[in-house]
Amino acid sequence: MSLVIKNAVIVNAEKMHKEPQDILIDKGSIVQIFPSTNGRDRSRPVPTTTIDAKGKLVFPGLIDMHVHLREPGREDKETIETGSRAAVKGGFTAVLCMPNTTPVIDNAMIVEAILKEARRVGLVNVIPVGAITRGQNGEELTDMFELKQAGCRALSDDGKTVGNSRLMRLAMEYARMTGLFLIEHCQDPALWNKGVMNEGDVSTVLGLKGDPGISETIIVGRDIELAHYLNARIHLAHMSLKRSIELIRFARSQGIQVTAEACPHHFTLTDEAVKTFDTNTKVNPPLRTQEDVDAIKEGLKDGTIDCIVTDHAPHTAEEKEMDYDHAPYGMIGLETAVGLTITELVEKKVLSWTQMADRMSAAPARIVGLAGKGVIKEGADADITIIDPEKVWEVRKEDIVSKSKNSPFIGRKLKGAVAATIYGGKVTYQIS
Ligand code: DOR
Ligand code: ZN
Repeated sequence: MSLVIKNAVIVNAEKMHKEPQDILIDKGSIVQIFPSTNGRDRSRPVPTTTIDAKGKLVFPGLIDMHVHLREPGREDKETIETGSRAAVKGGFTAVLCMPNTTPVIDNAMIVEAILKEARRVGLVNVIPVGAITRGQNGEELTDMFELKQAGCRALSDDGKTVGNSRLMRLAMEYARMTGLFLIEHCQDPALWNKGVMNEGDVSTVLGLKGDPGISETIIVGRDIELAHYLNARIHLAHMSLKRSIELIRFARSQGIQVTAEACPHHFTLTDEAVKTFDTNTKVNPPLRTQEDVDAIKEGLKDGTIDCIVTDHAPHTAEEKEMDYDHAPYGMIGLETAVGLTITELVEKKVLSWTQMADRMSAAPARIVGLAGKGVIKEGADADITIIDPEKVWEVRKEDIVSKSKNSPFIGRKLKGAVAATIYGGKVTYQIS
Protein backbone atom coordinates (compact mmCIF):
# COMPACT_ATOMS: atom_id res chain seq x y z
CA MET A 1 0.00 0.00 0.00
CA SER A 2 1.40 3.38 -0.94
CA LEU A 3 0.56 6.78 0.39
CA VAL A 4 1.31 10.34 -0.57
CA ILE A 5 1.32 13.29 1.83
CA LYS A 6 0.75 16.35 -0.30
CA ASN A 7 1.74 19.96 0.40
CA ALA A 8 3.87 18.99 3.38
CA VAL A 9 5.83 21.69 5.16
CA ILE A 10 8.48 19.35 6.55
CA VAL A 11 9.93 20.15 9.97
CA ASN A 12 13.11 18.22 10.66
CA ALA A 13 15.41 18.97 13.59
CA GLU A 14 18.04 20.11 11.06
CA LYS A 15 15.81 22.38 9.04
CA MET A 16 12.30 23.40 8.16
CA HIS A 17 11.53 23.30 4.44
CA LYS A 18 10.00 26.54 3.25
CA GLU A 19 8.53 25.08 0.07
CA PRO A 20 5.77 22.48 0.41
CA GLN A 21 6.83 18.97 -0.56
CA ASP A 22 5.03 15.80 -1.50
CA ILE A 23 6.15 12.76 0.45
CA LEU A 24 5.71 9.45 -1.31
CA ILE A 25 5.56 6.42 0.96
CA ASP A 26 5.69 2.79 -0.06
CA LYS A 27 6.20 -0.44 1.90
CA GLY A 28 6.79 1.39 5.17
CA SER A 29 9.49 3.71 3.88
CA ILE A 30 9.74 7.23 2.52
CA VAL A 31 10.64 6.58 -1.12
CA GLN A 32 10.59 10.09 -2.55
CA ILE A 33 10.29 13.71 -1.47
CA PHE A 34 9.75 16.34 -4.16
CA PRO A 35 8.40 19.89 -4.43
CA SER A 36 4.60 19.81 -4.57
CA THR A 37 4.65 22.02 -7.63
CA ASN A 38 6.57 19.40 -9.66
CA GLY A 39 3.94 16.72 -9.66
CA ARG A 40 4.52 13.07 -8.99
CA ASP A 41 7.30 11.06 -10.56
CA ARG A 42 5.40 8.90 -13.03
CA SER A 43 7.78 5.99 -12.65
CA ARG A 44 6.66 5.54 -9.04
CA PRO A 45 3.60 3.49 -8.03
CA VAL A 46 0.28 5.34 -8.03
CA PRO A 47 -0.44 6.12 -4.37
CA THR A 48 -3.53 4.38 -3.07
CA THR A 49 -4.11 6.99 -0.35
CA THR A 50 -3.59 10.74 -0.31
CA ILE A 51 -3.37 13.03 2.69
CA ASP A 52 -3.42 16.75 2.03
CA ALA A 53 -1.23 18.47 4.64
CA LYS A 54 -1.90 22.01 3.41
CA GLY A 55 -1.62 24.45 6.30
CA LYS A 56 -0.13 21.75 8.55
CA LEU A 57 3.39 20.96 9.71
CA VAL A 58 4.83 17.54 8.99
CA PHE A 59 7.17 16.17 11.66
CA PRO A 60 9.15 12.97 11.92
CA GLY A 61 7.12 10.56 14.07
CA LEU A 62 7.18 11.64 17.69
CA ILE A 63 8.93 9.33 20.16
CA ASP A 64 8.02 9.23 23.84
CA MET A 65 10.77 7.49 25.74
CA HIS A 66 8.87 7.35 29.04
CA VAL A 67 5.38 5.88 29.37
CA HIS A 68 3.61 3.44 31.66
CA LEU A 69 1.30 1.06 29.82
CA ARG A 70 0.39 -0.99 32.95
CA GLU A 71 0.12 -4.30 31.11
CA PRO A 72 0.71 -6.87 32.50
CA GLY A 73 -0.98 -6.56 35.85
CA ARG A 74 -3.00 -3.37 35.96
CA GLU A 75 -5.16 -3.60 32.90
CA ASP A 76 -7.85 -1.71 34.83
CA LYS A 77 -5.63 1.41 34.46
CA GLU A 78 -4.37 0.94 30.89
CA THR A 79 -3.55 -1.81 28.42
CA ILE A 80 -1.11 -1.98 25.57
CA GLU A 81 -4.10 -1.49 23.29
CA THR A 82 -5.65 1.53 25.04
CA GLY A 83 -2.22 3.04 25.65
CA SER A 84 -1.38 2.59 21.96
CA ARG A 85 -4.60 4.41 21.02
CA ALA A 86 -3.70 7.27 23.34
CA ALA A 87 -0.18 7.35 21.88
CA VAL A 88 -1.28 7.64 18.24
CA LYS A 89 -3.87 10.28 19.15
CA GLY A 90 -1.00 12.15 20.78
CA GLY A 91 1.07 11.90 17.59
CA PHE A 92 3.50 9.24 18.76
CA THR A 93 4.91 6.52 16.54
CA ALA A 94 7.16 4.97 19.20
CA VAL A 95 7.00 4.68 22.98
CA LEU A 96 9.31 3.16 25.56
CA CYS A 97 7.26 1.45 28.26
CA MET A 98 8.53 1.35 31.81
CA PRO A 99 8.99 -1.94 33.69
CA ASN A 100 7.02 -1.20 36.88
CA THR A 101 4.28 -3.59 35.82
CA THR A 102 3.04 -6.66 37.73
CA PRO A 103 5.08 -8.74 37.31
CA VAL A 104 7.99 -6.43 36.63
CA ILE A 105 9.61 -6.50 33.17
CA ASP A 106 12.71 -8.32 34.39
CA ASN A 107 12.90 -11.35 32.11
CA ALA A 108 12.67 -12.26 28.43
CA MET A 109 9.26 -13.89 28.70
CA ILE A 110 7.54 -10.68 29.75
CA VAL A 111 9.38 -8.63 27.14
CA GLU A 112 8.26 -11.08 24.46
CA ALA A 113 4.66 -11.05 25.70
CA ILE A 114 4.56 -7.24 25.55
CA LEU A 115 6.09 -7.15 22.09
CA LYS A 116 3.63 -9.77 20.87
CA GLU A 117 0.61 -7.86 22.14
CA ALA A 118 1.99 -4.55 20.81
CA ARG A 119 2.43 -6.13 17.38
CA ARG A 120 -1.11 -7.50 17.48
CA VAL A 121 -2.41 -3.99 18.20
CA GLY A 122 -0.05 -2.68 15.53
CA LEU A 123 -0.50 1.05 16.13
CA VAL A 124 2.81 2.11 17.61
CA ASN A 125 6.34 0.85 18.05
CA VAL A 126 6.37 -0.31 21.68
CA ILE A 127 9.88 -0.72 23.06
CA PRO A 128 10.00 -2.30 26.51
CA VAL A 129 12.38 -0.95 29.12
CA GLY A 130 13.70 -3.76 31.30
CA ALA A 131 14.27 -3.44 35.03
CA ILE A 132 17.74 -2.79 36.44
CA THR A 133 17.08 -5.00 39.46
CA ARG A 134 14.97 -8.14 39.78
CA GLY A 135 11.41 -7.25 40.70
CA GLN A 136 12.74 -3.68 40.98
CA ASN A 137 13.77 -4.75 44.46
CA GLY A 138 16.97 -2.70 44.41
CA GLU A 139 19.01 -5.71 45.47
CA GLU A 140 19.95 -8.01 42.63
CA LEU A 141 20.70 -7.08 39.03
CA THR A 142 18.63 -8.52 36.20
CA ASP A 143 20.08 -10.58 33.38
CA MET A 144 20.77 -7.62 31.11
CA PHE A 145 21.94 -9.71 28.19
CA GLU A 146 18.72 -11.70 28.25
CA LEU A 147 16.66 -8.49 28.32
CA LYS A 148 18.63 -7.04 25.42
CA GLN A 149 18.25 -10.20 23.35
CA ALA A 150 14.51 -10.12 23.99
CA GLY A 151 14.17 -6.57 22.63
CA CYS A 152 14.86 -4.06 25.42
CA ARG A 153 16.83 -0.96 24.51
CA ALA A 154 17.19 0.49 27.97
CA LEU A 155 16.93 -0.47 31.62
CA SER A 156 15.34 1.42 34.50
CA ASP A 157 13.86 0.86 37.93
CA ASP A 158 11.57 3.81 37.17
CA GLY A 159 9.10 4.64 39.89
CA LYS A 160 12.03 3.98 42.22
CA THR A 161 15.65 5.07 42.38
CA VAL A 162 18.46 2.54 42.55
CA GLY A 163 19.31 3.60 46.09
CA ASN A 164 22.39 1.44 46.50
CA SER A 165 25.27 3.33 44.86
CA ARG A 166 27.45 0.25 44.53
CA LEU A 167 24.69 -1.61 42.73
CA MET A 168 24.23 1.38 40.42
CA ARG A 169 27.91 1.33 39.67
CA LEU A 170 27.75 -2.35 38.71
CA ALA A 171 24.60 -1.72 36.68
CA MET A 172 26.37 1.01 34.69
CA GLU A 173 29.33 -1.26 34.02
CA TYR A 174 27.22 -4.21 32.91
CA ALA A 175 24.84 -2.06 30.87
CA ARG A 176 27.79 -0.62 28.99
CA MET A 177 29.00 -4.13 28.21
CA THR A 178 25.62 -5.20 26.87
CA GLY A 179 25.14 -1.99 24.86
CA LEU A 180 22.09 -0.92 26.86
CA PHE A 181 21.71 2.43 28.58
CA LEU A 182 20.25 3.15 31.99
CA ILE A 183 17.40 5.52 32.81
CA GLU A 184 17.46 6.73 36.39
CA HIS A 185 14.45 7.86 38.38
CA CYS A 186 16.13 10.44 40.63
CA GLN A 187 14.61 10.55 44.11
CA ASP A 188 16.85 9.42 46.93
CA PRO A 189 14.48 7.13 48.85
CA ALA A 190 15.42 8.30 52.33
CA LEU A 191 15.30 11.99 51.50
CA TRP A 192 12.11 11.68 49.47
CA ASN A 193 10.58 9.92 52.47
CA LYS A 194 7.25 9.52 50.67
CA GLY A 195 6.69 13.25 50.39
CA VAL A 196 3.51 13.95 48.44
CA MET A 197 4.43 17.35 46.97
CA ASN A 198 7.35 19.76 46.67
CA GLU A 199 8.79 20.77 50.04
CA GLY A 200 8.49 24.53 50.31
CA ASP A 201 6.17 27.37 51.23
CA VAL A 202 3.13 25.79 49.60
CA SER A 203 3.57 22.44 51.37
CA THR A 204 3.91 24.29 54.67
CA VAL A 205 0.71 26.23 54.08
CA LEU A 206 -1.18 23.14 52.97
CA GLY A 207 0.25 20.95 55.73
CA LEU A 208 1.27 18.28 53.26
CA LYS A 209 4.46 16.25 53.53
CA GLY A 210 7.15 17.64 51.25
CA ASP A 211 9.76 16.05 49.02
CA PRO A 212 12.87 18.22 49.31
CA GLY A 213 14.50 18.94 45.97
CA ILE A 214 17.80 17.53 47.24
CA SER A 215 16.27 14.04 46.93
CA GLU A 216 16.59 14.61 43.17
CA THR A 217 19.83 16.58 42.95
CA ILE A 218 21.75 14.14 45.15
CA ILE A 219 20.98 11.30 42.76
CA VAL A 220 21.64 13.49 39.72
CA GLY A 221 25.02 14.36 41.22
CA ARG A 222 25.77 10.78 42.20
CA ASP A 223 24.93 9.37 38.78
CA ILE A 224 26.91 12.08 37.00
CA GLU A 225 29.89 11.16 39.17
CA LEU A 226 29.45 7.45 38.47
CA ALA A 227 29.16 8.11 34.73
CA HIS A 228 32.30 10.21 34.91
CA TYR A 229 34.25 7.66 36.93
CA LEU A 230 33.23 4.73 34.76
CA ASN A 231 33.13 6.58 31.47
CA ALA A 232 29.59 5.23 31.15
CA ARG A 233 26.26 6.61 29.99
CA ILE A 234 23.30 7.70 32.08
CA HIS A 235 19.90 9.09 31.11
CA LEU A 236 18.15 11.09 33.82
CA ALA A 237 14.36 10.80 33.87
CA HIS A 238 11.82 13.61 34.37
CA MET A 239 14.08 16.40 35.62
CA SER A 240 12.11 18.80 37.82
CA LEU A 241 14.59 21.22 39.35
CA LYS A 242 16.69 24.21 38.38
CA ARG A 243 19.66 22.81 40.27
CA SER A 244 19.47 19.45 38.47
CA ILE A 245 19.70 21.28 35.18
CA GLU A 246 22.70 23.24 36.40
CA LEU A 247 24.41 20.01 37.41
CA ILE A 248 23.70 18.45 34.01
CA ARG A 249 24.98 21.56 32.23
CA PHE A 250 28.20 21.33 34.23
CA ALA A 251 28.53 17.59 33.51
CA ARG A 252 28.05 18.22 29.79
CA SER A 253 30.74 20.88 29.84
CA GLN A 254 33.08 18.19 31.22
CA GLY A 255 32.19 15.77 28.44
CA ILE A 256 30.34 13.38 30.76
CA GLN A 257 27.87 11.14 28.91
CA VAL A 258 24.66 12.33 30.49
CA THR A 259 21.33 12.88 28.76
CA ALA A 260 18.08 14.06 30.31
CA GLU A 261 14.37 14.47 29.77
CA ALA A 262 11.57 16.71 31.06
CA CYS A 263 7.78 16.38 31.11
CA PRO A 264 5.11 18.87 29.97
CA HIS A 265 3.62 19.02 33.48
CA HIS A 266 6.98 20.11 34.89
CA PHE A 267 7.28 23.00 32.42
CA THR A 268 3.61 23.99 32.70
CA LEU A 269 2.54 23.71 36.35
CA THR A 270 4.00 24.72 39.71
CA ASP A 271 3.28 23.48 43.23
CA GLU A 272 0.65 26.24 43.40
CA ALA A 273 -1.57 23.82 41.44
CA VAL A 274 -1.64 21.53 44.49
CA LYS A 275 -3.68 24.17 46.33
CA THR A 276 -6.73 22.81 44.49
CA PHE A 277 -6.10 19.45 46.22
CA ASP A 278 -6.73 17.88 42.82
CA THR A 279 -4.96 14.54 43.23
CA ASN A 280 -4.16 14.63 39.50
CA THR A 281 -1.45 17.13 40.43
CA LYS A 282 0.22 14.50 42.62
CA VAL A 283 3.16 13.15 40.68
CA ASN A 284 6.71 11.94 41.18
CA PRO A 285 8.87 13.93 41.04
CA PRO A 286 6.46 16.61 42.28
CA LEU A 287 5.49 19.88 40.63
CA ARG A 288 8.08 22.43 41.74
CA THR A 289 8.33 26.24 41.68
CA GLN A 290 8.22 28.91 38.98
CA GLU A 291 12.01 29.19 39.15
CA ASP A 292 12.24 25.49 38.30
CA VAL A 293 9.69 25.78 35.50
CA ASP A 294 11.72 28.62 33.98
CA ALA A 295 14.96 26.61 34.30
CA ILE A 296 13.42 23.56 32.60
CA LYS A 297 12.35 25.77 29.71
CA GLU A 298 15.83 27.21 29.49
CA GLY A 299 17.31 23.69 29.63
CA LEU A 300 15.04 22.54 26.81
CA LYS A 301 15.94 25.60 24.79
CA ASP A 302 19.70 25.23 25.06
CA GLY A 303 19.57 21.43 24.79
CA THR A 304 20.81 20.68 28.33
CA ILE A 305 17.57 18.71 28.51
CA ASP A 306 17.58 16.58 25.40
CA CYS A 307 14.00 15.56 25.09
CA ILE A 308 10.37 15.89 26.12
CA VAL A 309 8.66 12.79 27.50
CA THR A 310 5.20 12.37 29.03
CA ASP A 311 5.75 9.94 31.94
CA HIS A 312 2.18 8.91 31.03
CA ALA A 313 1.06 7.31 34.32
CA PRO A 314 -2.55 6.14 34.23
CA HIS A 315 -4.41 5.55 37.50
CA THR A 316 -8.07 4.67 38.06
CA ALA A 317 -10.65 7.23 39.20
CA GLU A 318 -11.23 5.21 42.40
CA GLU A 319 -7.55 5.50 43.33
CA LYS A 320 -7.33 9.17 42.46
CA GLU A 321 -10.50 9.86 44.46
CA MET A 322 -8.57 9.13 47.64
CA ASP A 323 -7.27 12.03 49.73
CA TYR A 324 -4.04 13.72 48.66
CA ASP A 325 -1.84 11.72 51.01
CA HIS A 326 -3.08 8.38 49.79
CA ALA A 327 -3.78 8.85 46.08
CA PRO A 328 -1.15 7.30 43.79
CA TYR A 329 1.48 9.42 42.05
CA GLY A 330 1.17 10.16 38.35
CA MET A 331 -0.85 11.67 35.56
CA ILE A 332 -1.61 10.71 31.98
CA GLY A 333 0.15 12.73 29.31
CA LEU A 334 0.17 11.13 25.87
CA GLU A 335 -2.80 13.07 24.49
CA THR A 336 -1.78 16.50 25.77
CA ALA A 337 1.99 16.53 25.13
CA VAL A 338 1.87 18.14 21.68
CA GLY A 339 -0.70 20.77 22.73
CA LEU A 340 1.23 21.67 25.88
CA THR A 341 4.56 21.79 24.07
CA ILE A 342 3.21 24.11 21.38
CA THR A 343 1.22 26.27 23.83
CA GLU A 344 3.90 26.58 26.52
CA LEU A 345 7.09 26.40 24.48
CA VAL A 346 6.62 27.16 20.80
CA GLU A 347 3.99 29.89 21.17
CA LYS A 348 6.06 31.48 23.94
CA LYS A 349 9.18 31.40 21.75
CA VAL A 350 11.06 29.01 24.02
CA LEU A 351 11.45 26.47 21.21
CA SER A 352 11.37 26.86 17.44
CA TRP A 353 9.52 24.26 15.36
CA THR A 354 12.82 22.61 14.44
CA GLN A 355 13.79 22.43 18.10
CA MET A 356 10.44 20.82 18.86
CA ALA A 357 11.18 18.22 16.16
CA ASP A 358 14.50 17.60 17.86
CA ARG A 359 13.24 17.35 21.43
CA MET A 360 10.26 15.14 20.54
CA SER A 361 11.68 13.00 17.76
CA ALA A 362 15.30 13.33 16.65
CA ALA A 363 16.79 13.47 20.16
CA PRO A 364 14.93 10.46 21.57
CA ALA A 365 15.73 8.52 18.36
CA ARG A 366 19.39 9.36 18.91
CA ILE A 367 19.39 8.49 22.61
CA VAL A 368 17.55 5.20 22.12
CA GLY A 369 19.54 4.40 18.98
CA LEU A 370 16.63 4.02 16.59
CA ALA A 371 18.14 4.01 13.11
CA GLY A 372 15.88 5.34 10.36
CA LYS A 373 13.70 7.24 12.86
CA GLY A 374 13.56 10.85 13.99
CA VAL A 375 13.97 12.34 10.52
CA ILE A 376 11.95 12.78 7.34
CA LYS A 377 14.15 11.91 4.38
CA GLU A 378 14.21 9.52 1.48
CA GLY A 379 14.99 6.03 2.74
CA ALA A 380 13.86 6.70 6.32
CA ASP A 381 11.03 4.79 7.95
CA ALA A 382 7.61 6.25 7.18
CA ASP A 383 6.89 7.32 10.77
CA ILE A 384 5.32 10.75 10.49
CA THR A 385 3.25 13.12 12.64
CA ILE A 386 1.14 15.82 11.00
CA ILE A 387 0.38 18.76 13.25
CA ASP A 388 -2.15 21.55 12.88
CA PRO A 389 -0.30 24.47 14.50
CA GLU A 390 -3.30 26.79 14.57
CA LYS A 391 -6.00 24.57 16.00
CA VAL A 392 -7.24 25.69 19.42
CA TRP A 393 -8.95 22.97 21.42
CA GLU A 394 -10.05 22.18 24.93
CA VAL A 395 -8.91 19.10 26.83
CA ARG A 396 -12.17 17.30 27.58
CA LYS A 397 -12.52 14.21 29.70
CA GLU A 398 -14.93 12.61 27.25
CA ASP A 399 -12.36 12.90 24.44
CA ILE A 400 -9.59 11.08 26.33
CA VAL A 401 -9.01 7.63 24.83
CA SER A 402 -6.58 6.44 27.49
CA LYS A 403 -8.38 4.08 29.86
CA SER A 404 -7.62 6.38 32.79
CA LYS A 405 -8.60 10.04 32.77
CA ASN A 406 -6.25 11.36 35.48
CA SER A 407 -5.19 14.62 33.86
CA PRO A 408 -4.90 17.95 35.68
CA PHE A 409 -5.24 19.63 32.27
CA ILE A 410 -8.92 18.80 31.74
CA GLY A 411 -10.70 22.07 30.93
CA ARG A 412 -7.53 23.75 29.67
CA LYS A 413 -7.45 25.35 26.21
CA LEU A 414 -4.44 24.45 24.10
CA LYS A 415 -3.12 25.62 20.77
CA GLY A 416 -1.72 23.05 18.36
CA ALA A 417 -3.14 19.61 17.69
CA VAL A 418 -2.20 16.33 16.07
CA ALA A 419 -3.94 16.02 12.70
CA ALA A 420 -2.62 12.60 11.71
CA THR A 421 -0.13 9.95 12.74
CA ILE A 422 1.52 7.55 10.33
CA TYR A 423 3.46 4.54 11.57
CA GLY A 424 5.36 2.32 9.16
CA GLY A 425 3.48 3.91 6.27
CA LYS A 426 0.09 3.14 7.82
CA VAL A 427 -2.28 5.88 8.99
CA THR A 428 -2.80 5.05 12.66
CA TYR A 429 -4.69 8.21 13.57
CA GLN A 430 -6.48 10.92 11.67
CA ILE A 431 -8.49 13.72 13.24
CA SER A 432 -12.19 13.40 12.47
O1 DOR B 1 4.27 9.94 39.17
C1 DOR B 1 4.79 8.89 38.81
N1 DOR B 1 4.07 7.82 38.49
N2 DOR B 1 6.12 8.83 38.79
C2 DOR B 1 6.76 7.67 38.58
O2 DOR B 1 7.96 7.69 38.54
C3 DOR B 1 6.02 6.42 38.41
C4 DOR B 1 4.67 6.68 37.89
C5 DOR B 1 3.76 5.50 37.98
O3 DOR B 1 4.14 4.40 37.62
O4 DOR B 1 2.59 5.68 38.35
ZN1 ZN C 1 7.95 7.12 35.22
